[in-house]
Amino acid sequence: MKAVILAGGSGTRLYPVTIATNKHFLPIYNKPMIYYPLSLVMLLGIKDVLFIINPEDLENFKKLFKDGSHLGMNIDYKIQEKPNGLAEGLILAEDFIGNDNICYMLGDNIFFGHDIVKIMKEAKEEIEKNGGAYVFGYYVKDPERFGIVEFDEKGNVLSLEEKPKNPKSNYAVVGMYFYDNKAVQIAKNIKPSDRGELEITSVNEEYLRQNKLKVKLLGRGFAWFDAGTHDSFLEAGEFIETIENKTGLMVGCIEEIAYRNGWISKEELLKLAEPLKKTGYGQYLVGLANE
Ligand code: TTP
Repeated sequence: MKAVILAGGSGTRLYPVTIATNKHFLPIYNKPMIYYPLSLVMLLGIKDVLFIINPEDLENFKKLFKDGSHLGMNIDYKIQEKPNGLAEGLILAEDFIGNDNICYMLGDNIFFGHDIVKIMKEAKEEIEKNGGAYVFGYYVKDPERFGIVEFDEKGNVLSLEEKPKNPKSNYAVVGMYFYDNKAVQIAKNIKPSDRGELEITSVNEEYLRQNKLKVKLLGRGFAWFDAGTHDSFLEAGEFIETIENKTGLMVGCIEEIAYRNGWISKEELLKLAEPLKKTGYGQYLVGLANE
């Protein structure tokens, strides 16, 4: 399986903060927002990652992640000329995806929870074995902001709706999707919505129509943030600060995950820590190497 992480978009809900910078570089506590989705993909053992980015951000993304080899990964970039919607990333990633299945992730989504990796690995394995699409639902107070999934009493999915005015449930579809290879063709065949975007909800609706959509609800033990508004951005940062300072362990530390995955050696980890040595982040990496 390969991963595609969406890191373009316009970020208008974070204006004026994101007028001159891309939101994915903004700090969620002590690291750029984009580290969090990347770290989750790495925890799933996925080494091949494509970032969908805006034209003006290529240089800065390369500064941050280069070609990924320092993390033992293959990282590449694809320019999205305009924010034409979440599903366009599937079309842009066609060559990168080839014949593989896809882990598709939004660059401003942050997940935390005891079993999150286990649950996502189950989804990955399900898609690799049986194909289809696998998404996750999460209870939210403000369903009008999200793609919403409706169920019957038995838990079967009845409908999906993008930012509904009259939501049929409070379960939002979160920004981590697993698809078989057919998602690319499906994305190519959907029509733009009323707001002119190729919606990921339309892709999921097509899987639902074919009876190939699985939805798992993330319960109380999970925290999910879509860090795309002023309040949720701050909330995510405060949450990460609390967790890290309570546990002494980092969330979303890509160098740590690469090391624990066995993708880089102790010497390579120490080399990555060197330019960060004035920070708690760098000292944490040194501590890891000396464990
Ligand atoms: P959104 O938060 O839905 O959109 P946005 O980032 O453009 O922000 P705003 O609504 O405030 O204007 O996007 C979710 C994620 O997907 C985010 O990480 C940006 C990314 N994205 C793309 O990469 N391409 C796109 O065309 C869109 C719409 C979003």
